[in-house]
This record gives sequence, C-alpha cells and structure tokens, in this order.
Amino acid sequence: MNLLIHDLNEEEWNRISEKYTGWEIISDDGTIKPCIGCFGCWVKTPGRCVIKDGYDNMGAAIHRADEITVISRYTYGGFSPFVKNVFDRSIGWVLPFFEIYQGEMHHKRRYPEDKPITFIFRGQMNDSDKAKARSYVEAVCRNFHGIIKDIIFEECETPGCKLSHNKISVKSNPEKIILLNCSLRGNNSNSKKFLDRIAPNIKANSESVNLSSYINRYDELSEILGSAGSIVLGIPLYVDGIPSECLRMMERLEHCDTEGAKHIYVVSNMGFYECTQLRNLMSMVKSWCNHCGYIYGGGVAIGGGEMMGSVLSSTDKGPAKIVAEGLNNLADAINESKEIADIYAGPLHFPRALYMLAASSGWPIAAKKNGLKKKDLYRKEESAVSSKS
Ligand SMILES: Cc1cc2nc3c(=O)[nH]c(=O)nc-3n(C[C@H](O)[C@H](O)[C@H](O)COP(=O)(O)O)c2cc1C
Repeated sequence: MNLLIHDLNEEEWNRISEKYTGWEIISDDGTIKPCIGCFGCWVKTPGRCVIKDGYDNMGAAIHRADEITVISRYTYGGFSPFVKNVFDRSIGWVLPFFEIYQGEMHHKRRYPEDKPITFIFRGQMNDSDKAKARSYVEAVCRNFHGIIKDIIFEECETPGCKLSHNKISVKSNPEKIILLNCSLRGNNSNSKKFLDRIAPNIKANSESVNLSSYINRYDELSEILGSAGSIVLGIPLYVDGIPSECLRMMERLEHCDTEGAKHIYVVSNMGFYECTQLRNLMSMVKSWCNHCGYIYGGGVAIGGGEMMGSVLSSTDKGPAKIVAEGLNNLADAINESKEIADIYAGPLHFPRALYMLAASSGWPIAAKKNGLKKKDLYRKEESAVSSKS
C-alpha cells in the first residue's frame, strides 16, 4: 500500500482523489494536535505518539507504505502547517539513538528500509523558492531515511487549504520588544533558556511570551506581537524546519497590518550537533519576514541545543562560549535595531562523538522512569492502522 499525506481542501481533493484509490490517506480533518516535544514516542510508547487524536501512529503508517506522496502548499520554503504537523508527529518512525549519516549526526532507523517519497509543492513559486523547497526536502530525507523520488511544483494562485483570517491593524511601539518562546515545552524549553539569557541585556521594555499559552488564540497573540517594535523568536528545530504550531502563528501574523517598522530576530536551537543543520529554518524565517514586510535582523543558530541550554544556565564559559558570545552580539543588535549576519554556534571543544554518547545514554534512563527497558525502545509497530485512513 502507498501513503498520501495532503493538505488539499475538499474541492481540490475531489478533483484528484481517483488517482489515489487504494492508498492510505492522511488529510486534515481539523483535529490534529501539535507535537509538544515530550519525546514520549521514544521513551513512553516507543514508535508511537502519546497524543491520541488519530494521527498518533505515523511511524507505522510510513513503515507500511511502499512509497509516499506528500502534497503541500508551499510555505516559506517548506510544508504547510498541517503537513508539517504530520511530519512533527512522525519522529517515532526513527529511533532516539544516533549515527553519523552523510557526514551529519542523525537518528538511527527503527525500521530497516528507506522510503521513496514524491513531494508536490503547490502555490506561486519562483526559482529561488523552488531551490529552498528542494534544499528542505533533501534535509528531511537525510533525517528521515527517505529517498526523493520526485519533487513537483504545481503553480496555482490560491491553494484552497489556506485559512482566511480577519485583518488586524495594530500600531507598533519601537520601544517594545517581545521575546516569543515558540517551543510548546513552554518554561521547560531550551528556547526559553536562550531567550532568558538575552533578556537582561536588552535595554528597552521587554516582555517574555510563551506561544504555548496562546494555542487557538492567535488573534489575541497577533495583537500583542503586532504592537512590538521588535520580536525575538525562540524556535526549536523540528524535522529540519519550523514546528507546525509556530508556522500557524506566523501565517496568522501575515494578516496583521502593523504601522511602523518591525524587526524580527531569531534564536533557533536543535538536538543534533551541527548548527549548520539549522540553515533551512533560518531561511524560512527570512522568507516569512519578506511576506510580512518585516525587517529580518539576524539570529543565532545553536547546535547541540539540549546540552547548551543547560550549560548556559550556569556558565558562559567552556562549551557554551561561542553561543554566549553569539547571544551577546544579538542583544547588541536588538538594542540598536540593526541587522547582523546570522551567527552559527555550537559546543566549543566538545567532540561530536562525546556529545552523541552523552545524548544516547539519556534515552534508556528516561525510558526506565516509564518502566521500560532499553530493548523496548526498539519496538516496531507492524499492524496498527491509522484511524484517519
Ligand atoms: C518533533 C521533533 C522533531 C525534531 N527534529 C529535529 C531535527 O530535525 N533536528 C535536530 O537537530 N533536532 C530535532 N529535534 C530536537 C529539538 O530541536 C531539540 O530537542 C531542541 O533542543 C528542543 O528545543 P526546545 O526545548 O526549545 O523545544 C526535534 C524534536 C522534536 C520534538
């Protein structure tokens, strides 16, 4: 059986559904929940997401498929929020343990096979947009043990799945700076730790906001964000891009007219070691700024984020040195409302092999707290069929 993941609306789907007769279909019925970054799919119910909304068994759905087709509205160089949500909920497809794959740190396979995937992007895309989408799905396939079968670009003016929002008009205050933690782990996130490290160095009024407090209340959040002269986004890397809920918020802000210039800065972080794997995410934030007419002010892209978050909470020295310097430079730029080049920062004098060893040893410990043994983490789900099919 083949698997189709799509974000088409009913009318669009009816036009092509015949072609996919006999396929397992994952589509948007409005009930999908965002990944909350708990890693339960690795250490509680290995291979399967703990959120029971019918989209919880994507790892097995991917395994069952002979091949996969993904149809997505082109969004800032990547997938639409729904399709990204499905991918974010699919990390149970791989194991929590690590290996070096094509020169980079990645997860080991849970299932033995690589998956052929066809990607169909819809929307209005120029050559540069197409290059971004290509770079993004190449990264996803390296990460998810996929093989790109084809990448197709379908020009269409208004892919019907995009939600229409009320326009909001807000006057921005150049003196107001909002630090928006886009991790749904909220106060426990690494993103929050990095933003907290910047906050005391900011001279203007700054306010910390958690995206997790505004789920389904993005009109309200848009008014708050619209009123800021600068926004500093703290974004964790999810499946090589922006987490789905953060994308939803960003799309909502596209419909917020702000009077006055707005600077956007970003502090992104990731689990793997090489900070360069954040380049697609940084590019997506830039594309979003172009859509909204915001000024992209630059950012810090942090590799080894799970470790750097804790180290930086106690010291600016040792492995955290480059990250701390990067965050200081970013704070200077924010204070002067100026633009800087992105800073890519990772652990200093901390070898990748040691980082991988330390990171891998944490999973069995976390699993033990849930009554699981190390061998349980390798569990395979062979038979369960998604309730969405
Ligand atoms: C659904 C999901 C997908 C992830 N994908 C990646 C990835 O593609 N590359 C990576 O290096 N880390 C990935 N991570 C790890 C997070 O980026 C890392 O744990 C980060 O420190 C989380 O930041 P936060 O605490 O601010 O949420 C992923 C985590 C989750 C939950």
